[in-house]
Amino acid sequence: MSKVIAILNQKGGVGKTTIAANIGVSILNRGHSVLMVDSDPQGSLRDWSATNDGGLVSVIGLDRETLTKDIEGVKDPYDFVIIDGRAKAEKMAGAAIRAADIVLIPVAPSALDIWGASDITEAIAARHEVTEGKPETRFIINAATKNTKLIEEIRPATEESGFKPLDTVLYSREIYKQTMGEGLTVHSGKNADALEEIENLTTEIMEILNNES
Ligand SMILES: Nc1ncnc2c1ncn2[C@@H]1O[C@H](COP(=O)(O)OP(=O)(O)OP(=O)(O)O)[C@@H](O)[C@H]1O
Ligand SMILES: [Mg+2]
Repeated sequence: MSKVIAILNQKGGVGKTTIAANIGVSILNRGHSVLMVDSDPQGSLRDWSATNDGGLVSVIGLDRETLTKDIEGVKDPYDFVIIDGRAKAEKMAGAAIRAADIVLIPVAPSALDIWGASDITEAIAARHEVTEGKPETRFIINAATKNTKLIEEIRPATEESGFKPLDTVLYSREIYKQTMGEGLTVHSGKNADALEEIENLTTEIMEILNNES
């Protein structure tokens, strides 16, 4: 059965598309079939895919509020479906939450950004009341700078939100911008640290999905 991973945050520019592309390629490299869904009419993920001539991963655009049903219709042939979320679109986020087995919320390493994700965390908490805790939900700390006492500083805010961050932190690295601009990911092999953090992140996500009933 296919597993649906939704990468959501109502805030723009937090790394949704960057993370979607990188974990998409990571999962594909592990021998699974992957469909990536660009739910943003801006079409950044489709632009990324066009830059590599669609040669890396299958990407389709599903940017209507019928997203939950639209995904049901296309997901069966794939092991994993990854939804790249759209900022400032409450109904689209709700539809993605209903479709998802796991929601990942990229945030900067700051309490303000975690509080700022309350639109999503509250929508998920409401969904949990009728689904007995589905979808699984985690923050992804993205674009961190070295030396920040990340986890300690944000712990009170994450606890308040009711959701945990994944252990793997993604650091702010030029390689993410460069590779995305070339239609690639950190798998193109120029930065071993970036590759390692993406692989660790993917492993954590797969473990959560494997443990889920
Ligand atoms: N870990 C990182 N290190 C350096 N740059 C990053 C990192 N993550 C994302 N970026 C850069 O930040 C910018 C925003 O990232 P991205 O487009 O992935 O965010 P988004 O949440 O999808 O934005 P939008 O809401 O507009 O769709 C891009 O220029 C991207 O290259
Ligand atoms: Mg985006």
